[in-house]
Amino acid sequence: MSEPVPLALRGASFAYEDGPVVLDGLDFEVRAGRALALLGRNGSGKTTLLRLLSGGLRPDAGRLTVDGEPVTYGRAGLTRLRTTVQLVVQDPDDQLFAASVAQDVSFGPLNLGLPDPEVRARVGEALAALDIASLADRPTHLLSYGQRKRAAIAGAVAMRPRVLILDEPTAGLDPDGQERLLATLDGLRAAGTTVVLATHDVDLALRWADDAALLTPEGAHTGPAAVTLARPDLLRRAGLRLPWGVAVAGLLRAQGLLAETAPGPRTAEELAAVVGPPGTA
Ligand SMILES: Nc1ncnc2c1ncn2[C@@H]1O[C@H](COP(=O)(O)OP(=O)(O)O)[C@@H](O)[C@H]1O
Ligand SMILES: [Mg+2]
Repeated sequence: MSEPVPLALRGASFAYEDGPVVLDGLDFEVRAGRALALLGRNGSGKTTLLRLLSGGLRPDAGRLTVDGEPVTYGRAGLTRLRTTVQLVVQDPDDQLFAASVAQDVSFGPLNLGLPDPEVRARVGEALAALDIASLADRPTHLLSYGQRKRAAIAGAVAMRPRVLILDEPTAGLDPDGQERLLATLDGLRAAGTTVVLATHDVDLALRWADDAALLTPEGAHTGPAAVTLARPDLLRRAGLRLPWGVAVAGLLRAQGLLAETAPGPRTAEELAAVVGPPGTA
């Protein structure tokens, strides 16, 4: 049985005014419960695709569907879309605008016309999920970059979307900040949110995603991350390199250290588990 498809583009084309054709007849699906990484070189159309999926842009041809139903771009249709899918843009400063973190996070739920107790509950829940409850009353402009990023994500989470989309969420974070963000996204996934992120980091995608979608000039190729990110032909067409883990798995198999069918290591810890502690090789 095929999985439900909460969000899909069918035959979508898009060009910016006076700009190049970015997407041409693209078919793209977001599957419920599958962590999806969207990959492509700079300028390949990742951000454009995410904005089409979240209703910020409208396809010139083709259509966006939610649960198979075409999205309408009037007020009611867009409100329905915003409770299904939320996009967190790459730069938190493009998203945050209210005086305090709590005010910013409450904006979306207030805009839905929800009663105050419900708004407060959602804000509390979103701040807790992003581990920034202690920052609730802080002015957003006094936060660190990582904290602003978390506040921007909390604003999306407070809408309780079924699909949370993040554009290059780890860009600009230090390694510890990246790890903490991935752990947070895993928490949201465990709570039932379908998470999609755009990145050009193939190693991160291999580690984190169930599925990978590679944007190439011919369209999007989506499949299990471990399979898709091990295809040099697709990666080359997408302008990306082979993930470190895939290259290492190839070497380990050639040395007889890893069975042909066993999955390759995705982290240094998983590599250590394959080769054993130092001195045993
Ligand atoms: N607002 C815009 N106006 C005109 N062209 C744009 C605009 N935004 C992006 N583009 C162009 O569209 C293409 C895709 O950009 P984008 O979706 O931002 O790619 P990515 O996120 O993969 O780097 C690029 O050629 C880019 O220059
Ligand atoms: Mg982009």
